[in-house]
Amino acid sequence: MKNKIIVFGSLNLDFIVKTKNFPKIGETLMGIEYFIAPGGKGANQAVAVARLSCPVYMIGAVGNDYFGDLLIKNLKENHVKVDYVFRSSKKTGVAFININNQGLNSITVIPGANYELKDELLKKTFHLIKNNDIVIVQLEIPISSVYEIIKESKKRKAFLILNPSPIKRIKKEILKLVDILVLNEIEAINIVNKKMTQKEIALELVSLGVKRVIITLGKKGAIFCDKNKKIDIFPTLKVRSVDTTGAGDAFLGALAGSLLKGESFSKAIKIANIAGALSTKKYGAQNSFPFLKEMKKLRNI
Ligand code: RIB
Repeated sequence: MKNKIIVFGSLNLDFIVKTKNFPKIGETLMGIEYFIAPGGKGANQAVAVARLSCPVYMIGAVGNDYFGDLLIKNLKENHVKVDYVFRSSKKTGVAFININNQGLNSITVIPGANYELKDELLKKTFHLIKNNDIVIVQLEIPISSVYEIIKESKKRKAFLILNPSPIKRIKKEILKLVDILVLNEIEAINIVNKKMTQKEIALELVSLGVKRVIITLGKKGAIFCDKNKKIDIFPTLKVRSVDTTGAGDAFLGALAGSLLKGESFSKAIKIANIAGALSTKKYGAQNSFPFLKEMKKLRNI
């Protein structure tokens, strides 16, 4: 049984614009609607963990501004511990998200304060990591901080989940420290930088030393591969999607929460698939994440 979950990562305020199609270069497009909602891959994953009633800390940085106040307040309301969400002189991170009529998105992130999670600030948080905790990290904070978090987590015998999003090159010696690498189809192709099928990519990552790989495939579910090099495919629910923003974060948070509760990898992936699918039925990231109760009602999990 693991103790608690610590999410190191980004907090952004998302500006979501709904249009029929994505705008082309030089084009002025009339949109349909817009929303402003709490986001950031780190904060999203922390909220997704909390939806499973698991203890979770968010470690990150926001500006000394109204957006920062809003994001912290929202995390508190979602039962995420915010004692280590620092205030910085930089502006709170924001994301500009376009959604088309199929619910697909394209995202531009301005990291702002998220890039201040480094050096002394980061060191102040490491005492929280204990044997058997689950640590989650993504790549919307400085890459040097990501490496430090991974090394420190392994030193302190925590279980480490890396979500290499948005994609950046990761050193091979760091990949070897990762207990589960969770990435989507586009990130998978970019991380190996070769033309391969998703199954081949999963096998390649395992042979590079990653202990377990999960590639999320959107409507097709997810692929799982571990050191035994056996590929398992987990189909997902069919739902009517309006916005896929944060679906990967809902998946990851539910996966980590289920593992914390002692579920097997296959059961945790099944629950994560349900969380990811249900999150696409509403607009925004965190606000769309399902509670365990809703998931149980839908499926016998
Ligand atoms: O994964 C979705 C998230 O990516 C959005 O909430 C946005 O803030 C960006 O970080």
